[in-house]
Amino acid sequence: MIAPRTVNEIIETARIEEVVEDFVTLKRRGSNLVGLCPFHNEKTPSFNVSPSKNIFKCFGCGRGGNAVQFVMEHENFTFPEALRFLAKKYSIEIEEDKPSEEQRAAQLEEESFYILNQFAREFFQKQLFETVPGKTIGLSYFKERGFLEKTIRKFELGFSPAQRDAFTKRALEAQYKIESLKQLGLTTKYDTDFFKNRVIFPIHGLTGKPIAFAGRALSTADKRTPKYINSPESPIYHKSKVLYGLYFARQEIRRQDNCYMVEGYTDVISLHQHGIENVVASSGTSLTPEQIKAVKRYSANITVLYDGDPAGVKAALRGLDLILEEGMNVRLVMLPDNQDPDSYIREVGATEFEDFLKKNAEDFILFKTRILQSDAGSDPIQRSLLVRDVVSSISRIADPIKRSIYVQECSQLLQMEETLLVREINKHIQERLRQKARERPTGQEIETDFRNLREQNEKEVTGGKHEAQQIGLRSPDEYQERDLIRILVCHGHKEVEIEVEDGQEVFSLAEYIFQNIEDIRDNFDHPVYRKILDMYEEAFISGEVLSHQDLLMDEEIEVRNTVMEMLTTPYEYSDWDKNDLPLQTQKHPEENYMEDSFSAIMRLKLKKIKGRIRENQKIIEKVREEGDPTQLEIHVKIHMELLKMRNHITDQFKNVII
Ligand code: UTP
Ligand code: MN
Repeated sequence: MIAPRTVNEIIETARIEEVVEDFVTLKRRGSNLVGLCPFHNEKTPSFNVSPSKNIFKCFGCGRGGNAVQFVMEHENFTFPEALRFLAKKYSIEIEEDKPSEEQRAAQLEEESFYILNQFAREFFQKQLFETVPGKTIGLSYFKERGFLEKTIRKFELGFSPAQRDAFTKRALEAQYKIESLKQLGLTTKYDTDFFKNRVIFPIHGLTGKPIAFAGRALSTADKRTPKYINSPESPIYHKSKVLYGLYFARQEIRRQDNCYMVEGYTDVISLHQHGIENVVASSGTSLTPEQIKAVKRYSANITVLYDGDPAGVKAALRGLDLILEEGMNVRLVMLPDNQDPDSYIREVGATEFEDFLKKNAEDFILFKTRILQSDAGSDPIQRSLLVRDVVSSISRIADPIKRSIYVQECSQLLQMEETLLVREINKHIQERLRQKARERPTGQEIETDFRNLREQNEKEVTGGKHEAQQIGLRSPDEYQERDLIRILVCHGHKEVEIEVEDGQEVFSLAEYIFQNIEDIRDNFDHPVYRKILDMYEEAFISGEVLSHQDLLMDEEIEVRNTVMEMLTTPYEYSDWDKNDLPLQTQKHPEENYMEDSFSAIMRLKLKKIKGRIRENQKIIEKVREEGDPTQLEIHVKIHMELLKMRNHITDQFKNVII
């Protein structure tokens, strides 16, 4: 643990302009410095550095922060890693708070694993470049495949000799322990080398250290030896969390705001050599949520490149629902027959390759619908399976507007009534909600959630102060969210009469609110408010109405405090957005909670929709630039939909006010 004193010293010493200048060329403009933003692609500089405020801010992509945040973003460092980096630059001696005995032991062990893998990597590289078998078998294999020496060195490729224990022996001589060798899977339980007579691909962690290895057989003639073998899981290698190549690709993924996903190690390397660097490999296995989240840190767009036969592609399509669930945009490209990314780019070159991708990338859901439909033909059983499949994918999209656009598109493709699709989709969503309620987040997860949100907010710096702090907000729509949650907490259990088609019906106010916020239910930013909504929802599902007593008993202190405050402080509407819509002054909340909840819902919706319109406009600009007609069409439709919704809300408001 770095001592708080040292942390402060580092933050106070680090000069933003000096730190940034190591990575970005800056020019003076007035009292500021400007340059091309390293976090997104731009031709005219909108990346500003303010020496007097000691912060950076990009007006193009919105990123901003202090020197620590800059290196965290730029180098993808953790907070302590960034501090150590800056301490080194400024020769600040790091004072450590004493870690516990256990922490210390765990840390030492982890470090020793990295050191051992480093040793292995060097061994394999030496074998490749400096031994006769390495050069004649390994190196010539790579060269035959068209890998340049520069590429081979960049990816730290190597060679493992054919002897039964050449590496193990060498490692033991260097005083490494046999148990560690086995834990990392470098040595088998028979004390022999795990990798024998193979070319080696180190798998890098996010800081560039080798965390595991893959070895490719030099001949695939013998069907009994697998083409690739991989290090087993180890304390430093969790296969399901790693994407091959992410260390080399992350900057470019951010810059291009897109990530190409391929299957093979060699595909990644070959594309890099041709100058396409925003590419990672799933390494032949199906994608996991952790892998998708790893990409999501850099971009919300994934283009998956398929080289398989149609049957393989169909199997793989299923895994992609996961990506949708993460709120990412997924596109698909099928490569020409019998080509994988590596062979295809070597055949046609980078320009034609990228042209092909641009022309042929298809929206995932539309692609899936089309391909499954052409398969199903008119067979009714096949068709109902197909519909179920498509419906399941659409139901995973969290955004209701996007969902409705896909319903329109797919109902045309499938020649089916929209309402039919919607009904099926709702079934899926309800099932998943029930599932979610069963797995409500634990205290710890909520805390992490908080921390993330706070960190996110801290990055949004303007004028030397944190924007969120300046106005005392933790999330941009906090006021509007709070108004509604407050009504829910204070009056949710009360009964209200609501006009329905055949007369009046009695609901709880909570129920009324829930029915009316369905479309923004998932867009609450504030973690405490989100949790309160989850709790109400969970109660609904079991047929109850939550009371504030339940909330006051919650394990989460933040929830208890929020609820307590809402129940005890005088009830006033927040004073936001004065010019936007006239406010109703609330003098007698006890009598007017029904009207209040209506206007609170409308305001929140309006705020969310405005945010969505801005966001969507940015996407429209981007896809227009990229020349992607399907995506453009989808997002223009979303825009129209959003405008309709906005106008509808403002109309309703006018009526009420008049
Ligand atoms: P491919 O068989 O498509 O190989 O497997 P490739 O990447 O094109 O390799 P080359 O070009 O023949 O050298 C795709 C990926 O599936 C995993 C590997 O990650 C490989 O890169 N795989 C494949 C294995 O893990 N084990 C295997 O036996 C085969
Ligand atoms: Mn290949």
